[in-house]
Amino acid sequence: MENPRAKYGSAQQRKGRGRGVVLFPLPLQGHINPMLQLANILYSKGFSITIIHTHFNSPNSSNYPSFTFYSIPDGLSESEASTADVIELVTLLNVNCVTPFRDCLAKLLSVPLEEPIACIITDTVWHFTQAVADSFNLPRIVLRTSNVASFLGFACFPFLREMGYLPIQESQLEAAVPNLPPLKVKDIPLIDTRNQEDLYGLISSMVKEIKGSSGLIWNSVEELEQSELITVGQDFAIPVYPIGPFHSYFPASSSSLLTQDQSCLSWLNTQAPKSVLYVSFGSIATLSDTEFTEIAWGLASSNQPFLLVVRPGLVRGSEWLETLPNGFLEMMNGRGHIVKWAPQQEVLAHAATGGFWTHNGWNSTLESICEGVPMICWPCFGDQKVNARYVSHVWKIGVHLENRLERGAIDKAIRKVMVETEGEEMRDRIVHLKEKVHLSLRQGGSSHQALESLISYISSF
Ligand code: UDX
Repeated sequence: MENPRAKYGSAQQRKGRGRGVVLFPLPLQGHINPMLQLANILYSKGFSITIIHTHFNSPNSSNYPSFTFYSIPDGLSESEASTADVIELVTLLNVNCVTPFRDCLAKLLSVPLEEPIACIITDTVWHFTQAVADSFNLPRIVLRTSNVASFLGFACFPFLREMGYLPIQESQLEAAVPNLPPLKVKDIPLIDTRNQEDLYGLISSMVKEIKGSSGLIWNSVEELEQSELITVGQDFAIPVYPIGPFHSYFPASSSSLLTQDQSCLSWLNTQAPKSVLYVSFGSIATLSDTEFTEIAWGLASSNQPFLLVVRPGLVRGSEWLETLPNGFLEMMNGRGHIVKWAPQQEVLAHAATGGFWTHNGWNSTLESICEGVPMICWPCFGDQKVNARYVSHVWKIGVHLENRLERGAIDKAIRKVMVETEGEEMRDRIVHLKEKVHLSLRQGGSSHQALESLISYISSF
């Protein structure tokens, strides 16, 4: 592997202190959280931190008084500034942000800084930033905010297209995907978008520019994805740093774009240990009103207490709870609590929480593992499908709702996780996994060592 110092010609040899790092998060909640957590980790190791961010979904800078923030125009019109089609959104952002990002970086580099910039760290999805970094002769390290297995699924798209697995045929849904055990064709991490070629184009640019980068940081852990990390190491000739889980260092609450409703913690205080099912589908997924109704009735018939997050806009065509069956909450008689956005990490860590019905966004999956909370998996798109397969079939710490959402199946899955022996076994396995992940963060553990190597690497630029 090429020595990055030879490429970038820096002579600095100070560890952390005295060097700066510029980070550029993708403006989506599930990507902002890990990037700002990484910023905090690097700050704690002595680096000064500059965050460049778009106007759209800009982080709350007042929560980070030690960092310097620069906002760049993203050129999005009011109708374009939406997560309704994330692929269309990020494809557009990768075009619109080239000049503003370059100008911002040029300005930063034009003045002699007390703490010279060692490198930029950008989300892998910001593929245009590699060319910008190269033009300034500045190393670019990338952060992949989701896990390794799902990335391998994305990276396989050209092969899967060539082999005729894409576009997906209804008749092949249950077939095994070659080279990607244990994935089935229905788990291929596709994301719905107006023009499917945008997705393929985005992934191919992302993969190409990762290969040209100076290193790849994962919010994942060797103990969870050892063989997948070996595969990445073989396919990508750049240094790889699995240093997660980031939220174990710093919680995600300070980078939350929505206000977290703390009232649910007082409600949880009134519930019996491990009795509550926490239900949340993250920041982007949406539901039809039929699905929402089935969820409500499934929760009702399970007889378990539940804490349900209904983000405004979660139910397509509704502001908030309009489609909830009439008198539903009264009927629950205190057994259910609904909020718009929860302090998720604290909810998962609460003694009353016994299960998590999740869409399996990677942050949610990792947060659940770290609190030892078994899952009901209902993936909606992209990496979530891969994560759900790993949760249910590799780590065996959750039940997979694979078919159309229907109240009977929901009730059955809830009982399985919350009260039946199978759920108890899942709980034992996830607690064991949680311990392994926690050990990886201790002195000598895999994530700890990877972080130390990353710090030395950045300091060597
Ligand atoms: C997106 C993608 O959808 C996901 O597939 C990918 O893995 C990351 O980017 P999102 O859908 O928002 O993320 O899910 P997730 O990765 O789980 O991130 C959600 C974050 O919001 C978590 O850190 C979670 O703690 C936080 N959250 C969620 C809250 O703080 N409150 C809530 O009520 C729900």
